[in-house]
Amino acid sequence: MLSAIHTGKKAAGEKAAEYIRSGMTVGLGTGSTAFWAIEKIGRLVSDGLQIKAIATSLQSEQQAEKLHIPLVSFAELDHIDVDIDGADEVDEDLNLIKGGGGALLREKIIASSSKKMIVVADEHKLVKILGKFPLPVEVIPFGWEMTLRKLKSFGCIPVLRKKGDQVFVTDNGNYIIDCSFGAIPSPGDLHSRLNNIPGVVENGLFTGMCDTVIVGYEDGSTRVITKSV
Ligand code: A5P
Repeated sequence: MLSAIHTGKKAAGEKAAEYIRSGMTVGLGTGSTAFWAIEKIGRLVSDGLQIKAIATSLQSEQQAEKLHIPLVSFAELDHIDVDIDGADEVDEDLNLIKGGGGALLREKIIASSSKKMIVVADEHKLVKILGKFPLPVEVIPFGWEMTLRKLKSFGCIPVLRKKGDQVFVTDNGNYIIDCSFGAIPSPGDLHSRLNNIPGVVENGLFTGMCDTVIVGYEDGSTRVITKSV
């Protein structure tokens, strides 16, 4: 029996799979909501849906392999039709904070290479203004302490992410610094300024990338929010 919140995640994830058609190349997101989209895509593939997919993390890649979803590398594709991924926060302009699971860099490479990005999120992810969720920033390990100080000068509380008592290491061999801003009134501006810090590889602000959000509710219903871009 799923908890109420997971009922919403499952509903949103499964609904997103309805956007996929045979012949498409699909980006597979990361996290507990994208998980359900991948599961549903796996069932559709076993029923005859013909797609190629590329995963945003090793975790999602392993899930897709188990489900026999055909995976391709960037060398084998020239575009991605649709990317289905989760989010930690979604604002009214469909700007996002992502990276709670640590996969933000691959997620952004795939989202930015996709014709369409569909975000799947439970109702608790919808916010008026981004920033209550600490913004994940991926940094290279060399000089991370200095990079953290530079991030602090932007007015946030930066914390090096740990997994137990070990430093959390991303699929790309980098670290994550979670930056509590409280509120991010100009996400596009902050995004560019953070990425200008030497040592910052990428940050979890996704602006102007998503035009469709599928919200899943605790009663199992869904709502589609779209924005024309
Ligand atoms: C992974 O790095 C993240 O961007 C996830 O997509 C995000 O944290 C949403 O995760 P859940 O669907 O598990 O809430």
